[in-house]
Amino acid sequence: MTTISPQYDDMIFRRCGMSGLQLPLISLGLWHNFGSVDTFTNARQMILYAFDRGITHFDLANNYGPEPGSAEETFGRVLHHDLVHHRDELIVSTKAGYRMWPGPYGDGGSRKYLLASLDQSLQRIKLDYVDIFYHHRPDPETPVEESILALDQAVRQGKALYAGLSSYNSEQTKQAVALMRELRTPCIIHQVKYNIFKRDIENDLLDTLEELGLGCIVFSPLAQGLLTNKYLKDIPPDSRAAKPTGFLRADEITDQRREQIKKLNTIAGSRGQSLAQLAVAWVLRHQTITSALIGASRVEQIDDILKVLNNPDLTKDEINAIDDVSS
Ligand SMILES: NC(=O)c1ccc[n+]([C@@H]2O[C@H](COP(=O)([O-])OP(=O)(O)OC[C@H]3O[C@@H](n4cnc5c(N)ncnc54)[C@H](OP(=O)(O)O)[C@@H]3O)[C@@H](O)[C@H]2O)c1
Repeated sequence: MTTISPQYDDMIFRRCGMSGLQLPLISLGLWHNFGSVDTFTNARQMILYAFDRGITHFDLANNYGPEPGSAEETFGRVLHHDLVHHRDELIVSTKAGYRMWPGPYGDGGSRKYLLASLDQSLQRIKLDYVDIFYHHRPDPETPVEESILALDQAVRQGKALYAGLSSYNSEQTKQAVALMRELRTPCIIHQVKYNIFKRDIENDLLDTLEELGLGCIVFSPLAQGLLTNKYLKDIPPDSRAAKPTGFLRADEITDQRREQIKKLNTIAGSRGQSLAQLAVAWVLRHQTITSALIGASRVEQIDDILKVLNNPDLTKDEINAIDDVSS
């Protein structure tokens, strides 16, 4: 077992909406690089390094891997080997909503799927409860009441402390939260994609979350690695865009995109930051955003991003310059 004493004083925590829960400004997601196809020792190092640096929140989903489910197993292995005495210092989340097993009960938003999936996740992580259980995406085929009542049941059974929604639009969020409040179920957080290249939540969702007092954790703040210095020249062989298991497609790195990345990299340089740090500072400029949910393939990337905490505030001119590049 490793001895760890997290450097809490070096991390900034933000309250998750109007709830009692605080999350670190940077959280670590295990979507890529923590599966059974990846190197366990590297995955373990990243989890332990992150926690040591005050990243108390680790985000999972039933289907993260590959193989689907294996990221939860990896996290469970590290948790029980190295962090077993730290369970109460950790916020562990998981989700269900995408295809996980064959047939009509392994996908979507039915009560049958969500509750069975949570039981399977708990078995893989080897926990009695997770801190946050999300519906991973809205399911147009299932009445929202059914999905929400399943999240409510998970909380009442003690298998999740809080409920969360992911990728629900503004109207769906209002409907879901109204139901949750009727049930007095602590639905405290919304997880959604947001980065310099993907700004839809600025249209109305961010305002809705603020009005509702819901926390917001944003995923892919680096646009899966596009908003880093990684793809400035070519596609490195060990990058997500080059890997057959990576979700980022090489054809997304167009000449126009590369030009934008170069300009953003110059803005970052003028602040003495890496582009990854600038991209994270940019999402965190909204106080409604509780945490930036990053991914990583090695410890050095986590270390790089954490340096944003030394210089998180952007000037109006810098924000305008970023708008000019991204619009
Ligand atoms: N709710 C949902 O539907 C949903 C969907 C997607 C993701 N998520 C969550 O959000 C988490 C983060 O998503 P994401 O992995 O797409 O986030 P991201 O932070 O946008 O991208 C992470 C990738 O960026 C690269 N990177 C990170 N730091 C770097 C640095 N300092 N310098 C250079 N490159 C760096 C790495 O790419 P390489 O691997 O190429 O090195 C890393 O794998 C996921 O793990 C998951 O928990 C949720």
